[in-house]
Amino acid sequence: MKLLVTGGAGFIGSAVVRQAIRDGHQVVNLDALTYAACLDNVASVADSPAYAFEHVDIRDRAALDRVFATHAPDAVMHLAAESHVDRSIDGPGDFIETNITGTYNMLEAARSHWVGQGRPEDFRFHHISTDEVFGSLGPTGQFTEETPYDPRSPYSASKAASDHLVRAWHETYGLPVVMTNCSNNYGPFHFPEKLVPVIILKALAGEPLPIYGDGSNVRDWLYVEDHADALLLVVQKGVVGRSYNIGGENERTNLQLVQTLCGILDELRPGPRPYAEQISFVTDRPGHDARYAIDPTRIATELGWRPSVTVEEGLRRTVQWYLDNEAWWRALQDRDGVGRRLGKAG
Ligand SMILES: NC(=O)c1ccc[n+]([C@@H]2O[C@H](COP(=O)([O-])OP(=O)(O)OC[C@H]3O[C@@H](n4cnc5c(N)ncnc54)[C@H](O)[C@@H]3O)[C@@H](O)[C@H]2O)c1
Repeated sequence: MKLLVTGGAGFIGSAVVRQAIRDGHQVVNLDALTYAACLDNVASVADSPAYAFEHVDIRDRAALDRVFATHAPDAVMHLAAESHVDRSIDGPGDFIETNITGTYNMLEAARSHWVGQGRPEDFRFHHISTDEVFGSLGPTGQFTEETPYDPRSPYSASKAASDHLVRAWHETYGLPVVMTNCSNNYGPFHFPEKLVPVIILKALAGEPLPIYGDGSNVRDWLYVEDHADALLLVVQKGVVGRSYNIGGENERTNLQLVQTLCGILDELRPGPRPYAEQISFVTDRPGHDARYAIDPTRIATELGWRPSVTVEEGLRRTVQWYLDNEAWWRALQDRDGVGRRLGKAG
């Protein structure tokens, strides 16, 4: 397939690009190269004749039309987004423009291309979204594809809005869409403002390991390469108009997650004291959702996908990757906001 992947210089998008090229697809990577992007993430495939890069902002409709006309993709995998909840609290405007207006532009550019091609049935517009659109769970229960939307941060509200647009473009115009909502990803090439790389890098630097509140917030952790496999399966085999929840079947509290990371670091890069002694609790993020958990039954039973690693195994691979790739993360550390607490809402 010829895939147009948006946000392919980011964390998850780059995993999709690398996997898609390995699987024999052609890939056009469309990315505006914001602070969160890093072209080194796709350096391993950039010389492939199956790879092309378009430096384009999804807020620029005319540029999108040009990309569709030039490359005539068989499918779109739309991952480009502003993705950091803390940044959405400090400055929601970019989230509205990229996640909502940008998705609208992508839908219109894709629709115009699809209509121009004679509405091929096998065209796909795959929208990648988050479990955060479902809001927050109590101690029990899981999000299914039928769970009502209840977003609670500017980030999740913008993603929820984009999901609604994608559904509407399917119902109203017949655009062949598929949608996925996934849980918290972690793994190699994760930008060092998110919890897992923050903890690894602060631990190695001998700095306090910041945990919001009392660390009891629960997330379902999904290894990014498992996620990329699931996304490539959905874009090829997913039923048109359907959404699929993707989870790692690995629920952990933030405190458990950080303790696990500390234990792995104690083994792989022993320090003078156990790393867990650096844990420090900081004022909670406003509106911090208590628990997310995914019911992955649909993607498991209909498409036969299951995560391949436990969170312990995935975290071990991740820690080893950060230990082996210091040049990658050092180069990102002076970018705006990295290493600084964001999202305090004044
Ligand atoms: N990381 C997670 O745990 C997670 C969980 C659920 C869903 N998601 C969703 O998956 C997608 C990818 O997330 P990620 O963690 O890889 O994000 P990321 O922040 O690492 O990467 C986003 C990419 O999109 C690009 N981008 C941003 N604005 C753009 C614009 N206006 N035009 C073109 N490109 C633009 C950036 O340059 C970057 O390369 C997002 O849609 C996000 O909402 C992420």
